Amino acid sequence: MRARRVWAVVPAAGRGERFGGGRPKQYETLAGRAVIEWSVSALLACRDVVGVMVALAGDDRDWSTLAIASDHRVHTCRGGKHRSDSVLAGLEALHELNADDTDPVLVHDAARPAVTAAAIEALIRGADGPSGGLLALPVADTLKRGEAGESVATAERSGLWAAQTPQMFPLGTLREALREGRAQGVAVTDEAQAMERRGYRPRLVAGEAGNIKLTRRGDRVLLEAILHSRTRGQTE
Ligand code: CTP
Ligand code: MG
Repeated sequence: MRARRVWAVVPAAGRGERFGGGRPKQYETLAGRAVIEWSVSALLACRDVVGVMVALAGDDRDWSTLAIASDHRVHTCRGGKHRSDSVLAGLEALHELNADDTDPVLVHDAARPAVTAAAIEALIRGADGPSGGLLALPVADTLKRGEAGESVATAERSGLWAAQTPQMFPLGTLREALREGRAQGVAVTDEAQAMERRGYRPRLVAGEAGNIKLTRRGDRVLLEAILHSRTRGQTE
């Protein structure tokens, strides 16, 4: 039997409008490293991951300055207008590296730097079927429906999960699901949604609370604290 190969696609072609600032948020330095270096390194720390395809904006100026850009397992391609276009471009580019349609692919946001190799490995073990799976956490807060700044209803929380990345699916199945979403003009916000639309039921694998996405300026403080505690843990 051939050794198991897991690939990864990292969408990193966004502009970070909500985060603001001059440079896309994936290149912010947190605890001494660029956000995207943390994200890609966590994937590379997993034994089964044989290659990472990073989807970059056409006018990206920062990637080539990073040490990780010269890692032999890391490759780049041109991303697209929406996140799902960047992911699809990454999947298509994996074929040039001789990836098979049956190989599993992890899709992980460049903007989630605090994911751990342990969580990724739990996903690889837990989502290894035809429907794939995703890291997610049961929603803990009470959910309110707001109208004009006022709370008008309380949503039923049971059964609701907050989706994270990575999400993992067989390459060929995910590519066809994303192509179908695009052809139908549906804006899918994650890979699991594209799969659900085709009738698959991706497995929910319990993630970690620290795996937050750098979205707004205020997310910096918490992420930096989490990442700092990791670097301290390594040196002590
Ligand atoms: N992304 C991408 N291609 C796009 C849009 C987003 O590769 N056309 C990537 C981002 O770089 C990020 C991930 O998808 O790593 C998650 O998206 P998000 O957090 O929404 O990042 P941005 O789209 O950059 O931020 P914003 O929505 O605030 O502009
Ligand atoms: Mg976005």
